[in-house]
Amino acid sequence: MDEIVIGIIGGSGLYRVAGFADAEWRPAATPWGAPSDDLLHGRLGGLGAVFLPRHGRGHVHMPSSVPYRANIAALKAAGVTHLVAVSAVGSFREDMAPGDFVVLDQFVDRTVGRDASFFGPGLVAHVSLAHPTCPALSAALAGAARAAGATVHEGGTYLAMEGPQFSTLAESRIWRDGWGCDVIGMTAMPEARLAREAELHYASVAMVTDYDSWHPEHGAVQVTDVIATLQANVDRAGAMIAALPEALGAACPAGCDRALEHAVMTAPDARDP
Ligand code: ADE
Repeated sequence: MDEIVIGIIGGSGLYRVAGFADAEWRPAATPWGAPSDDLLHGRLGGLGAVFLPRHGRGHVHMPSSVPYRANIAALKAAGVTHLVAVSAVGSFREDMAPGDFVVLDQFVDRTVGRDASFFGPGLVAHVSLAHPTCPALSAALAGAARAAGATVHEGGTYLAMEGPQFSTLAESRIWRDGWGCDVIGMTAMPEARLAREAELHYASVAMVTDYDSWHPEHGAVQVTDVIATLQANVDRAGAMIAALPEALGAACPAGCDRALEHAVMTAPDARDP
């Protein structure tokens, strides 16, 4: 296996990580523009590691305007091979309670108008997304979250909504009862799509902050509640990241790092130089 470099995209509440050795913030530029913030380069448990706060330090990017392509491209260019995304979510399931961690394995994309591919006119490609996360990295992430003391659910379907408003009661009921989704957030798509196109091993852990709006015994989602739950869990998220290198090991059985092998349709002589 090539040398592993861990990438971490921190979601709401996770704007820096402790425990990086030789840590240094460095700016990055990509053909898709600048990423959400500088990248924090360092070492974690003997492996190279790069951290990027998805919303920027100070939380300045809305979910709709996060530069998703630049973020993935910058992490790829920094040598990242294994990417872990952390995000805050509402829960559609009683047993996925605020404070729990859900290692996601499926996504339903209800976002609109976000740049969702690195490909386009001149170079057409269709990667497989049936299984959007890396099973080996997801298992390692679940192990690391457990080692950090979290209540962990392995497997979960994430409804990616456009936002920025939270969902209506009718939407919440449809996505929970009709579509069978487990959690809801605003940022995992197109991130997961782009990670696959970038041939990264990708895993995504959602930190439950609320019950969205469906739960009869909980009121509407409030940002203050979301932030309070996130703050209570930020140390645990940091401990999970610190435990990740030791939990890694199993080889990926899914070929995430060869996703483009049979995906490009444009003939070599028709491609943009
Ligand atoms: N992030 C945290 N809670 C959320 C919710 N209920 N809906 C969308 N995004 C969220």
